[in-house]
Amino acid sequence: MGQPFHVAIIMDGNGRWAKARGLPRAAGHKAGVEALQATVRAAPDLGVKWLTVYAFSSENWSRPQSEVSDLMGLLKLFVRRDLAELHRAGVRVRILGAREGLEPDISSLLAEAEALTAANTRLNLNIAFNYGGRDEIVRAARKLAQSVRDGDIEPSDITAETFSGVLDTACMPDPDLVIRTSGEMRLSNFLLWQSAYSELVFLPCFWPDFSTARFVEALKTFSERDRRFGGRTAKGLAS
Ligand code: IPE
Ligand code: IPE
Ligand code: MG
Repeated sequence: MGQPFHVAIIMDGNGRWAKARGLPRAAGHKAGVEALQATVRAAPDLGVKWLTVYAFSSENWSRPQSEVSDLMGLLKLFVRRDLAELHRAGVRVRILGAREGLEPDISSLLAEAEALTAANTRLNLNIAFNYGGRDEIVRAARKLAQSVRDGDIEPSDITAETFSGVLDTACMPDPDLVIRTSGEMRLSNFLLWQSAYSELVFLPCFWPDFSTARFVEALKTFSERDRRFGGRTAKGLAS
């Protein structure tokens, strides 16, 4: 199997990385942003056209207020400081997740990043922020219910395709590969619909220790998998 076209990453383990060094969690999140920058820079040359990263989940609001505000601050810093570089590098930035309830300065920064980079094509970078798979599915169901009530569609028009079309990832390919760092083996509400047939790779390293070499290794693991999608077409099987 070739290279994954769309890689999604659960960037986990910043807190434990910091703890292991006797540093505050905020230092781990800061190191995590650096790992993200390096990953975005490396992706296009590794044949990755779509990169989706889990930056803040709908459940992460339950963390102490101080950590939430550190994470918000880092997002603002990342977008403000790196937007020009991302744009120059041909990266198209899009945000997945609920926009309602975000601070106005964050929403406007996110909208600015999407607008500035809208015509870029070298790499598609999706930042899942205030994102939860269940929340996304519920918001999609509401949109379809509203369309039925408005008389624009019939219930029988609702198919997997039309449903995909009202998710935050409308018109985007599903991830081929989902990577999670930190040794945890769960999805934590990430891309529940879209990862139906994704290959999952769990790495023991904490997110700040992710590197281009580990990225390449994960892509190699992916290339050795047989994807069958329920059929019998994988190599080595009679079709
Ligand atoms: C991932 O690192 C970053 C976010 C969830 C925002 P964590 O903060 O979850 O780090 P651990 O899992 O506690 O080590
Ligand atoms: C998932 O990590 C969310 C992000 C990486 C942004 P968590 O650290 O929040 O997940 P759990 O709590 O270990 O499941
Ligand atoms: Mg975690």
